[in-house]
Parts: sequence; structure tokens; C-alpha cells
Amino acid sequence: MGGARVVRRATIRGVEDPAVAGLAAVLAPEGLALLDALPPYEEAAGLALGARLRAEGHDPALVAGALTQSRLRARAVAKFGPFADDMLFTAAGLEQATRLEVAARHARRFAAADVRRVADLGCGIGGDALALAGLGLGVLAVDRDEPTAAVAAANLRRFPAAAVRCEDVVATDLTGVDGVWLDPARRDAAGRRVLDPRRASPPLSFAVDLAERLPVGVKTAPGIDHDLVPTGPGGAWECQWTSVDGDVVEAALWSGPLARPGVRRSAVVVRGGAAAVVDDAADPFAATAPPVGPVGGFLYEPDGAVVRAGLVGAVVAALDGRLVDPSIAYVTADRHLELPSATGYVVDEVMPFGLKPLRARLRERGVGRLTIKKRGTAVEPEELRRRLRLEGPEEAVLVLTRVAGRQSALICRALPRPIAV
Ligand SMILES: C[S@@+](CC[C@H](N)C(=O)[O-])C[C@H]1O[C@@H](n2cnc3c(N)ncnc32)[C@H](O)[C@@H]1O
Repeated sequence: MGGARVVRRATIRGVEDPAVAGLAAVLAPEGLALLDALPPYEEAAGLALGARLRAEGHDPALVAGALTQSRLRARAVAKFGPFADDMLFTAAGLEQATRLEVAARHARRFAAADVRRVADLGCGIGGDALALAGLGLGVLAVDRDEPTAAVAAANLRRFPAAAVRCEDVVATDLTGVDGVWLDPARRDAAGRRVLDPRRASPPLSFAVDLAERLPVGVKTAPGIDHDLVPTGPGGAWECQWTSVDGDVVEAALWSGPLARPGVRRSAVVVRGGAAAVVDDAADPFAATAPPVGPVGGFLYEPDGAVVRAGLVGAVVAALDGRLVDPSIAYVTADRHLELPSATGYVVDEVMPFGLKPLRARLRERGVGRLTIKKRGTAVEPEELRRRLRLEGPEEAVLVLTRVAGRQSALICRALPRPIAV
């Protein structure tokens, strides 16, 4: 893996930028020591702590850098748990980083396919690279942004089999690498989100070209158009949508041995630390439309990853159920089954949508606390809530949707969710 510049020590140019100067100061051994000695981060105590550290003679750039890192570490706990306390960040790098549990799933794909040395092209602060290195894989992490590459090098310092290079991935020598991970930057020069993977940096075409010679995994936005999922080279690709605690966080494309045989679309639902996978092999309606029929005793809201993956049919099949409308992702069934891939509700009443009758029914039921869910309707939940003037001790879930083409209101109750699958 030799050749281009290797960031061995975390050094950065461009220290005229205060944020970069602060980071450079923290990256020096005495800077890290100061950061590690700081008390747990508390927003309100920041100013006084900064003044005290400067009064004690610490360089103002280092103090600013250490306080910034302390704040970023606190924020990073949501993505990296206790490991955040041993890491460094840039604000943008943290925002873009893959959360630990998802990065671990990426890394396991490479390990399962017996890919031993992975190039992480566009590594950011190293979220994915750390998970790969943590599994004992060799890692070549590359980022063209110098502060970001320096932070990645610091974060990977405990892994001798990991190297970081600061260069454009187009120039990276992949000799000795036997698989590639890409998490392209999805912001344009003005900071706006780029949803089309063909316009990300590097673009999807770069990943597809690499797949001619190496197994490739590439992260994209969850809204990726199914038609953009490559069908080759390197054999058929798998696109896997992932949600974490209800938020769809990504769609990852996997080529060659990284794709599971016979699986083109899949969804992984991570909730409370447990994960469940649904794939098109479990969807008997992959090529035909699922059945549609009247609302039964239970309503199920498939997880967003399942919906994005186009696998609502797998939920219909698992429940022996039907859709309430051909174009809407609500599934109804006559019996209850706990599924990790869908949230279930007991249906108490179904009525045509209308403000006055709905208000009257909720009053009669004494509903004062209402969760409003909607699909396929223009109703504004908060405006509706205001106009319902709720009162009473009871709780309910109101589902607004089309049933057989008609705007309807379903008064429901939540069912418990499984916490482990
Ligand atoms: C979404 S972030 C990667 C986040 C990373 N997976 C993590 O978990 O921390 C994308 C990174 O790609 C880098 N990048 C974008 N285009 C690049 C290119 N052509 N060469 C090298 N790095 C690039 C950006 O600087 C950015 O840090």
C-alpha cells in the first residue's frame, strides 16, 4: 500500500483558520493531555472553564480547540457511545460519520466475504474505518481534506494495520487492497444536501468502475431511486436500507461477494440495539402487487427502511394481511403478530374523515392525548390537533389515510413492540 503521502503523525497546514489552529493544537501530545483532563462537558460552564485555562497559561488556541473537542465528544456519544471519549472530531466530520452500530454492520460484510484489506475512500473522521480496523481488518483510509485526515489518523492510532492518506481518492494506489468502502460526501459547495449519488463526491460511477476489479460497498442517501442501483459489474448488487430506532439512515450498495446471493433489495431494522433483516427473498409480492382489502382488527405501519426498500409485501405476507389501499404502505390483518419490521396498532374504529364527527367520537372516548399518523392525506396533523380541541384522560393513535381510495380516520391503540428480535 505504499506510494502516496501517508499521514503518520497528525499534522495539518492552514492554521490561519481558528478552527484548524485549535484542532492542530489539540493534536499535539500536550493538547490531547489537556483535552483528556477536562471535566465532563457542560455547556454552561464553558466560558468560565476557558477563562480559567487561559489564566493558568494555556495557549488560547489550544483552549479553544480543547473546548470544541470536548463539546463534539459529548455530541458524538449518540453515534459512538463510550468510544467518543477517546476520539477527535471536526463538526462536519461528526455530522457525516456513520454511527458505530451501522459501521459495524458494514465491517462485518467485508469480514464475511473474506476481504482482509479494505480501502475506505473518503474516510472522514474514520467512523467506518474504525469499525473495519476493530474487526482486525487492514485499512487504508483516504480523505483529501487535511484536518479531516489528521483526525482520522488520530482516531485510528491504536490500530497498527490502519494507514491514513491525505489525497484525492482518484489518485489512490489500491495495490494490496482487496475491497473498497465508499461513503461519498453528499453536500455541494454551498453546503446543500445532494441526494443523487451520481452527483456525490466521489460519484456513483467511480464506485461502479472500481467494482470491475474489486468488491465495493457504497453508502447512499435512503431516497436513492431504485433504478440507480447498479446491476453490475462484479455480479448483481444488493441495496440495503438501514433504519436505526425508526430513522432511515442510509441505503448501502454492495457488489460482488459483498452482496448476498439472490438478494437484490433488503432492509435492516435496528431498534434498541437489536437488528432484524427483511429481504426480497421473503417478499412473495416482489413481482406482483400485494392484496388489498378491508381494514381488519389490526393495522401495521412498516418500518421506513422496509418501505424504502419496497418490501411492504414481506410484511403483508408475514401477517397474512392486506394493504388498506394499493398505493399506501399501511398493512391490515385480522390477528396480531409481533414483527420487528412493523409497528402494530389495535383498530378500534374506522370512519370517513370529517372534522366534526371525528371530534365528537374522540370526545365520547375521552381522548385527551392523541398521536396522529398519516399517509396519503394532505391533512396537517398539528392544525387538526388544534381544531379537535382534545379533552379527557384517555390516549389514542389516530391514523389518517386512504382506505380503498377514500379519506378515512382510524382510531387505534398502540401495541407493545418487541424489544429484541
Ligand atoms: C460522508 S464523509 C465520510 C464519513 C465516514 N464514512 C465516517 O464514518 O466518518 C465523506 C468524506 O469524503 C471526503 N471526500 C469527498 N470526495 C473526496 C475525494 N475525491 N477524495 C478524497 N476524499 C474525498 C470528504 O472530505 C469527506 O470527509
